[in-house]
Amino acid sequence: MADGRRTSLIRSFSSMPHQRKALHRQTSSPALGLKGHVAAALHAHVDGKTGSELQVEVDESSLCHYAVVDSPRRRIANINLVARHPEVYEPCDDSFALVDALLADKVHLLERQPSLCLEVGCGSGYVITSLALLMGEGSGAQYIATDISSVAAEVTRTTLRSHGVEADVVVTNLVTGLEKRLAGSVDLLVFNPPYVPTPEEEVGVEGITAAWAGGDRGRTVIDRMLAIVDSLMSSKGLFYLLTLTANNPGEICQIMKKKGFASRIVVQRSTEEESLHVLKFWREDVRDISDNGNHSTFSHSFSSKFSRLAFWR
Ligand SMILES: C[S@@+](CC[C@H](N)C(=O)[O-])C[C@H]1O[C@@H](n2cnc3c(N)ncnc32)[C@H](O)[C@@H]1O
Repeated sequence: MADGRRTSLIRSFSSMPHQRKALHRQTSSPALGLKGHVAAALHAHVDGKTGSELQVEVDESSLCHYAVVDSPRRRIANINLVARHPEVYEPCDDSFALVDALLADKVHLLERQPSLCLEVGCGSGYVITSLALLMGEGSGAQYIATDISSVAAEVTRTTLRSHGVEADVVVTNLVTGLEKRLAGSVDLLVFNPPYVPTPEEEVGVEGITAAWAGGDRGRTVIDRMLAIVDSLMSSKGLFYLLTLTANNPGEICQIMKKKGFASRIVVQRSTEEESLHVLKFWREDVRDISDNGNHSTFSHSFSSKFSRLAFWR
């Protein structure tokens, strides 16, 4: 692997707040292997742990040796227990970014005491399982996950079972058929959509393509979701959406603003292939208590940030 790629890989790991401290030493290693594989391996060992709970060694012959110094109760899904199927999207950088955003907001989420949590497009179940683990058994929250693929729904059920957590998993297009049950009740909505720009005819086709094919600017499925978010969200609802720069996240925020939602970037990550942002939305008339009182300046600082990001890949 070229040095540049290795550097960007390490930088992307280092930018994960809960992993930064875990990387004690960064070095050039000739054998990093496939990025996704390495990312998965790293997560497998460090997810849910803080720097003080881990020792990470990087040497010349292999990427990393990790030792879990302490073994506290796991707080997000264990990548080794996530079920797999060739037609189901495996957890990747985007899935990890979304879970990192939820981890970064954990205190805030717990304070909000969500009753109903929904993941649309659950794939392998990595995110909804992580969310249920992160919120903890005592939260009393109900979890619902949907996916357009029946295979993904089955894989998600297996992942949930192997972590001992529960969610209703429904095979449907976004939330079709659940509108009444969910209307105005969703306190926490997470969506890692099919966001890759593709020809329109690839959107929603059978198989793994539906996991990533996002149509024009990668926005086809995202825009369908934006159209219904307002009807689903409770007054204290939070919506976490994974986007790519090509999706024009600034425009997405403008669309949501017209619907009365404020926004902010919770996580942004640049990998070799893509620049990812996890956007968070909440009703503008409800103060975001994670914002330390800076709420009134949010929309402005957010748009100016995106005008700068327009030059960022
Ligand atoms: C990028 S993958 C994300 C999977 C998983 N949430 C994760 O983060 O690893 C997108 C998922 O959305 C599902 N999906 C695509 N279009 C959908 C739709 N219209 N309604 C529900 N799910 C959809 C795909 O089957 C796929 O599992």
